[in-house]
Amino acid sequence: LTVRAGSYAEELVKTAKTIASPGRGILAMDESNATCGKRLASIGLENTEANRQAYRTLLVTVPSLGDYVSGAILFEETLYQSTTDGKKMVDVLVEQKIVPGIKVDKGLVPLAGSNDESWCQGLDGLASRTAAYYQQGARFAKWRTVVSIPNGPSALAVKEAAWGLARYAAISQDNGLVPIVEPEILLDGEHGIDRTFEVAQKVWAEVFFYMAENNVMFEGILLKPSMVTPGAECKDRATPEQVAEYTLKLLHRRIPPAVPGIMFLSGGQSEVEATLNLNAMNQSANPWHVSFSYARALQNTCLKTWGGRPENVNAAQEALLIRAKANSLAQLGKYTG
Ligand code: 13P
Repeated sequence: LTVRAGSYAEELVKTAKTIASPGRGILAMDESNATCGKRLASIGLENTEANRQAYRTLLVTVPSLGDYVSGAILFEETLYQSTTDGKKMVDVLVEQKIVPGIKVDKGLVPLAGSNDESWCQGLDGLASRTAAYYQQGARFAKWRTVVSIPNGPSALAVKEAAWGLARYAAISQDNGLVPIVEPEILLDGEHGIDRTFEVAQKVWAEVFFYMAENNVMFEGILLKPSMVTPGAECKDRATPEQVAEYTLKLLHRRIPPAVPGIMFLSGGQSEVEATLNLNAMNQSANPWHVSFSYARALQNTCLKTWGGRPENVNAAQEALLIRAKANSLAQLGKYTG
């Protein structure tokens, strides 16, 4: 553990191991205000701070959530927010034995000189922001950049995505936050699963090349990949066994066993599909903890059940717990439906 990460090296390894603990995964609840607004609109609610607070209070206070969830990713507003009962959201999570995390990227903008692709902003001021987030109780971070298959991806877009992730990872580790490294390969497109595999190999090769160049300590990171699937508009669908076979083959070829945890995003898969795919990947013994970091695949039914009505809070919390338990079983390879 002599590779950089300075005084935080031991703590980073410990944090990453805690998050990657058996039967647990991450609840992604870090929707930006714009994305949260879309979710609230889908149940007829206005995008106000009070409504966001009510919804996030519901999520963090689910009884015994910590049995299945080891980390929760927050948007900056939530990191500094209290529940509707006036307790710090961060304190509620810690009492639940859930590690608080923070989305630190500043979102996607067009990448000049590319094929209509995007790049992820947020490196300016990141050192001071991550230091402040640590003071506020965050112990891990997320940076989501995307790669589009229908638009290329161009060599430029892949290099930019990989370099940005590597700089972010180094800066986060310097300030005590375990970086979740997330180059999301978007589901959009008509391409088949072999094309997704080919692109994913290229992307992960570059991400690890630049992380090594930036002296990132691999024992103190977590990955958030997309599963290897056919494009969303591809006519040939894949079974959970095929998704698992392709995705594990990719991980074995590209991800060193020093990395403690692989926490998949759900990326538009249905709740059940995301659970079945994860379960299929845990039918073999893997060198890393293979788990979830789902937003939509954990929250969809919960949000709909709530509908913004106080009398539905318990039922909505039960809905979240059902998905969390199912994915916990899938992490252990024991989900039976
Ligand atoms: P989904 O699981 O809805 O894809 O979101 C996960 C996430 O946090 C993407 O960054």
